[in-house]
Amino acid sequence: MKSDLNNFLIDYFPSPNGDNKELLKLLNQTSEIICDWFSHSEELSPLPQNIKNVVTEPDKCGCEIKILLEDINSLISSSFNPSHPGSLAHLDPPPLTISIVGDLVAGSLNNNLLAEELSPCISLIENNLCKWFATELGFGDSSGGIAASGGTLNNLNALVCARFKAGLTFDPEACFIVSEEAHVSFKKCARIIGIKDENLISIETDNYGKMDISNLYNEIKKTKSLGKKIFSIVATFGTTIRGSIDPIYEIGNICKDNDIWFHIDGSIGGIFALSNTKYRDIKDINNLNIANSITINPQKILGITKTSSLLLVDDINNLKKTFYTGLPYIDSTEEVLNRGELGVQGSRPAEIIKLWLGLRFLGKDGIDNILNSSIRKKLLFENILDKDNFYIYSGSLHIISFEPNNMNSDQINNWSLKIKKMLLNKKIMISRPFYKNRYILRIVFGNFNTKDSHIIELAHFLNKNIHE
Ligand SMILES: Cc1ncc(COP(=O)(O)O)c(C=O)c1O
Repeated sequence: MKSDLNNFLIDYFPSPNGDNKELLKLLNQTSEIICDWFSHSEELSPLPQNIKNVVTEPDKCGCEIKILLEDINSLISSSFNPSHPGSLAHLDPPPLTISIVGDLVAGSLNNNLLAEELSPCISLIENNLCKWFATELGFGDSSGGIAASGGTLNNLNALVCARFKAGLTFDPEACFIVSEEAHVSFKKCARIIGIKDENLISIETDNYGKMDISNLYNEIKKTKSLGKKIFSIVATFGTTIRGSIDPIYEIGNICKDNDIWFHIDGSIGGIFALSNTKYRDIKDINNLNIANSITINPQKILGITKTSSLLLVDDINNLKKTFYTGLPYIDSTEEVLNRGELGVQGSRPAEIIKLWLGLRFLGKDGIDNILNSSIRKKLLFENILDKDNFYIYSGSLHIISFEPNNMNSDQINNWSLKIKKMLLNKKIMISRPFYKNRYILRIVFGNFNTKDSHIIELAHFLNKNIHE
């Protein structure tokens, strides 16, 4: 059925036998709106001035395309603007150009990563790309992985697998261990898989935000003495607030000695393992293959459009055994691996397309260029920030948090709120995480559009306004 939609005579669906000229026109018009937004994003602000009231409910007859294009315009002008050079608050960089195309291709194909027959080529790409990633990390022949919609889901996939492998799926006292600075997704995972609060064991961190190994030993001993079993220890390779890296090698060996699944949450830092040479000084970057599983989120720094997250495992058979159900409604043979049976998601979008295109587009040098520029910008900022007046929390990655060093918690809370607002007025958006019982400030240097001049100006502004 065709509907005359003000200049567009467009089918409900792309025509299977026509020229789709109207669809092309619509795509071109939408692309123009989007590109216009990108071109002006520096004139705007990281956050919109106001949120336009868009109509959300469908009406009876359906809308003219003209109205929908206006709606898209309103939506865009009311959105967070990651391409603005002052967008420095979170792990949400501007979109990598080719991955925008990847999303369009994935949407157009509308294949389903549930089953091979619904995504023959894309399933193969996902399989091979995960295998390549796993090999880059130093995993062996039986390694592999799966894409899921975000780091939380991949941490969940790993923990479900670890618990199943340990034979503790139905043990109400099963425990897993994280550091106190691990991401909150583990609390969510614990609730989903039915782990009591006291059985999600949180290990203290040292002055550098890293899991304290002697505290880990004590907790393992204590847990065992209570007759409880630990199915996984999780190390974080890049914590959310300060980018700290837990002692991977030591924790890995403790896991080996105790026959415990070792999961690394490398959502932030894992991608640095793809670098050629420059980050070999990041401690343990060469030891990631000691893990049984690792989460990596290319969405967080390379700008692969959300979501883009992989779970890589040393032995793909563990995911197969954990999540296999058989798919009675899919015609398949035993040799075929339907990739919807490698994790908790069933139907899955072809997110791998934008990662595949993104990595091929960047190449190793391009990846290095982005990672290198992020670390270099953090160091530039750190060097200018006045160490006499600020206490800095930062590891070897591109994240830095800080607070004035001569204020009490209440004063720090007030100062950080004031500074955050002042900066937003100057079109610079930084974040204000709750850390060690107070609100401090954090900057993530993952925005490729941020220039050195912006960073120098920002650091000087903070030095000048320490007593605000
Ligand atoms: C260290 C870490 N792990 C996991 C996650 C969760 O990832 P996602 O938001 O993609 O679910 C985050 C998110 O910021 C994170 O910083």
